[in-house]
Amino acid sequence: MSRRKQIYEGKAKILYEGPEPGTIVQYFKDDATAFNAQKKATLDGKGVLNNRISEFVMIRLAEIGIPTHFIKRLNMREQLIKAVEIVPLEVICRNVAAGTMSKRLGIEEGEKLPRSIVEFCLKRDDLGDPLIAEEHIHAFGWATQSELDEMIAMTLRINDYLQGMFSGIGINLIDFKIEFGRLPITEGANAGGYQIILADEISPDSCRLWDRETNKKLDKDRFRRDLGDVTEAYTEVATRLGILKEANNKITPTLSVVSNED
Ligand code: CDP
Repeated sequence: MSRRKQIYEGKAKILYEGPEPGTIVQYFKDDATAFNAQKKATLDGKGVLNNRISEFVMIRLAEIGIPTHFIKRLNMREQLIKAVEIVPLEVICRNVAAGTMSKRLGIEEGEKLPRSIVEFCLKRDDLGDPLIAEEHIHAFGWATQSELDEMIAMTLRINDYLQGMFSGIGINLIDFKIEFGRLPITEGANAGGYQIILADEISPDSCRLWDRETNKKLDKDRFRRDLGDVTEAYTEVATRLGILKEANNKITPTLSVVSNED
């Protein structure tokens, strides 16, 4: 791998300076963390799978008109993305009760919610990403009203699309977390302003995905709850999406890889 400047290292990804201004290389690690990094492990192949799954999802979402940070996949573990200022919020959308919502509100895991619910958490690892209300977002200026409206509308649109996409491969989308960024607008009437775009990743690390027939968990809860076969479950998702060929659970990309394989 060529030497280049590391901008940021997170729990599951590293960001490097991109080849052109306004671009970043997002590298997917095999590291898994849970419970605010109190639990850690390295899961062979997870980064490769999440790179491919997130690429697939971002491309599909762009096709339905969701602006995203994804430019192109560079190799097995890296993708080129647009540099954005990350909005300091984790936007969670839930269709079925699970995880912290079940604990907080005493709703049994697996109970369908009366409608999809969008929640906001503050992106602050040191505080455990606390749940916040829209009031906090306005009062502390973490996003403007119009940014918030756009993020909610995009989240519900993404939820509708992903529910259908996963349903088509026998998977229930229980919930997911997304992040948004501000992309500087350089041309046209709105030059000097910002556009809200989808950033980060969408993968089994950030979604709850249950098999429709068996309710088998095909996501990071396998790691959080010590259920085993974590990468096998991620491989299953990638295979059903048509990203990987079934080959003794080996990671066999069906698309040709562009350059710099690692
Ligand atoms: O995952 P946990 O039970 O701690 O929190 P949750 O609020 O029930 O998570 C809802 C959804 O957001 C799940 O699909 C999580 O995987 C995802 N999430 C995430 O990707 N990153 C976080 N920091 C928190 C939640």
